[in-house]
Amino acid sequence: MDYHLRCIECNKKFQNDSLYTCPSCGGLLEVAVDVSSADFSLDGKEIRVWKYSSLLPVRIKPVTLHEGGTPLYEIVSSKKTDLYVKHEGLNPSGSFKDRGMTVGISKAVELGKSMVACASTGNTSASMAMYSARAGLKAYVFLPSGKVALGKLAQAMMHGARVIAVRGNFDTALRIVREICVRKDIYLMNSVNPFRLEGQKTIAFEIVDQLGYCPEAIYVPVGNAGNISAIFKGFSELKEAGYTDTIPKMIGVQAEGANPIYRAFSERKETIEPVENPETIATAIRIGSPVNARKALKAIYESGGRVIQVSDDEIVQAQKLLAKQGIGVEPASASSFAGFMKDDGEFESAVCIATGNLLKDPEEAVMVSEKPVEADPDIEVIERLL
Ligand code: F0G
Repeated sequence: MDYHLRCIECNKKFQNDSLYTCPSCGGLLEVAVDVSSADFSLDGKEIRVWKYSSLLPVRIKPVTLHEGGTPLYEIVSSKKTDLYVKHEGLNPSGSFKDRGMTVGISKAVELGKSMVACASTGNTSASMAMYSARAGLKAYVFLPSGKVALGKLAQAMMHGARVIAVRGNFDTALRIVREICVRKDIYLMNSVNPFRLEGQKTIAFEIVDQLGYCPEAIYVPVGNAGNISAIFKGFSELKEAGYTDTIPKMIGVQAEGANPIYRAFSERKETIEPVENPETIATAIRIGSPVNARKALKAIYESGGRVIQVSDDEIVQAQKLLAKQGIGVEPASASSFAGFMKDDGEFESAVCIATGNLLKDPEEAVMVSEKPVEADPDIEVIERLL
């Protein structure tokens, strides 16, 4: 498949896969793929990331842990919409990041890199540590100290990454890792890396593959804003390749305490003002200065979508409602469903992306759930407790 990198600001084209940003204007890059190479059928069979390899820009045998192919669950809701939740928490490391990581780490190997790094609110680091271990690369992760959910930290540590807990928030950690990567020739795996987003666009492919049609709206939790951009790109490529006639409205959902994209959208702006001290129970999206804001806002405007903000309370309520239907997700993941519930239900069909697994943040789950009842091992006593 033919592809090149293209600057989303000045449109310049590049054939150098090692770039992350435009050497001329500093803009974000995207991978422009030749959609006429698309060579898969959306027949609902053998669904996983590499089913769509004809649109994935990797030239070597990929580093894979069998990511993708996540279930699309039908959901009971009070609105008249046919509603589904795509449970990305059932990927190998428990989040959607694995889709990007299988492509990103494969690209690192293809480029002959031996070291990779990322800043992370947790899931990117867990996924990167796992895929680096598989590929035999040295992984460095930079986390906002004390603000990463336990499950994610455990994964990064167990898979052998060197973990640096930066005293500061995610935005600070990202600024530092970008600088370190330049100084030390380490390959950067954050979503400024355009190849990671290529993997994540397969969420769009899978939705159409599983449903057999293109839904009217997609609700996506937004943090660093890479995923919503990637999903939009996926739908755009499907349309360009003639698989679908429409593109869903991309509806971004942010936490009230970390809402720069919501604010920009409210004023119909194309750039954001960073939120200085982002705060939310959904630590995965506790981000004040999303690097992919320009791409995400473009996706939202071009698709006729919007941005919704939800409170921490609404996030927890949505998490519990999903749990009651057998779908266990971490708080950030529940924000898409929280956004759907706040919306006016105008769509006939919609998909909420649940981005990460409940087990990622066990401490939050314990905090917001009914506590276990302690009892002596006495049948009579215990029977009364049921
Ligand atoms: N949901 C979860 C569970 C996440 O971990 C993230 C991002 C998002 C949603 C938002 O996706 O950044 O593409 O807008 N987590 C990143 C990380 C920032 O470091 O794991 P986004």
